[in-house]
Amino acid sequence: MINDLNQLLDNPDFLAQGWQALFPDKQSLNLEIGTGYGHFLAWLAPRHPDQAFIGLDIVSKVISRAQRRLDQAGADNALLAKLDAQLTLNELVAPSTLDHLYILFPDPWPKNIRRRSLREDTLPLFASRLKAGGKFLFVSDDPDYARDARELLDASPLFQATDFPAIEVRTKYEQKWLAQDKTITRLAYIRPTLPQYPDTGSWPSYPHNFKVQLPDWSAAKNVELFSRFVPALRSYADLTMKLHACYRASFSQTLRLKLILARQGSLAHHTWIELSDDGQLAPAAGNSVPFLQQREALLQAVADWLVEIQSL
Ligand SMILES: C[S@@+](CC[C@H](N)C(=O)[O-])C[C@H]1O[C@@H](n2cnc3c(N)ncnc32)[C@H](O)[C@@H]1O
Repeated sequence: MINDLNQLLDNPDFLAQGWQALFPDKQSLNLEIGTGYGHFLAWLAPRHPDQAFIGLDIVSKVISRAQRRLDQAGADNALLAKLDAQLTLNELVAPSTLDHLYILFPDPWPKNIRRRSLREDTLPLFASRLKAGGKFLFVSDDPDYARDARELLDASPLFQATDFPAIEVRTKYEQKWLAQDKTITRLAYIRPTLPQYPDTGSWPSYPHNFKVQLPDWSAAKNVELFSRFVPALRSYADLTMKLHACYRASFSQTLRLKLILARQGSLAHHTWIELSDDGQLAPAAGNSVPFLQQREALLQAVADWLVEIQSL
């Protein structure tokens, strides 16, 4: 079970190979968003021992219960991860690599539909992560969410409707809603071959350790930077970054800086970076920058910013 993002981003094998590093002999990758108590994966994964399954949820207690269910089912080709769906799809799943994407009984957020996982602006993300021919399955008991989902998917050139496969298991929420005689809507779509996305993709491979050297640096510059530091916000590409705090280590001039990063529509990510007294800037031990495609350029942008602050 993956309990936090650092477990993945501190793993050099994951950075080099993506999920393949964790499922070395599996060819197909399938992802369930909001896996809940794990009923679906505990049923599905043992039926496809040659494939890999990832289940995402954001609630620790829920995911621990799901893990027990997977263990009892012998589903050792399924891995649960306590990770946000949008961050995972954006950063940890390479384009055109999923065979299936499943969302079963997502929270409908009736008072704030912007928080739903399936929205007009998330359809391109879902489609881009599926291989051509990959399938997206969506099931909901909520009539408004089901209607909106069907309308969006039917109107989207990124998806083509197909038959819903036979699924013999009832998830926790399905059991609950069936007991209340609710109507269940089951939608299945294929991601066709599209000019904007490759048919299949692969993990781009990222280096494990990365750092940026600040020019002409010395311990005295760390002291100045520390004395001038005030929290500040900046934009970098599609991210907002905040230098939130700066601490000095007691026995050296190394600075520890708290960096908060957020992308529109995603949860903010907090991380610590360290600036050594000879000007090397790198994520602090046990910390990560999840925006994998941008993290080196992002660290360079922070380095430039620190040089500016120091020279004020
Ligand atoms: C209504 S439950 C459905 C659970 C399960 N699919 C079922 O049918 O029993 C929705 C689940 O989605 C999870 N969830 C909500 N937001 C999420 C997110 N951003 N990323 C991953 N999981 C999320 C919740 O914690 C919850 O377990």
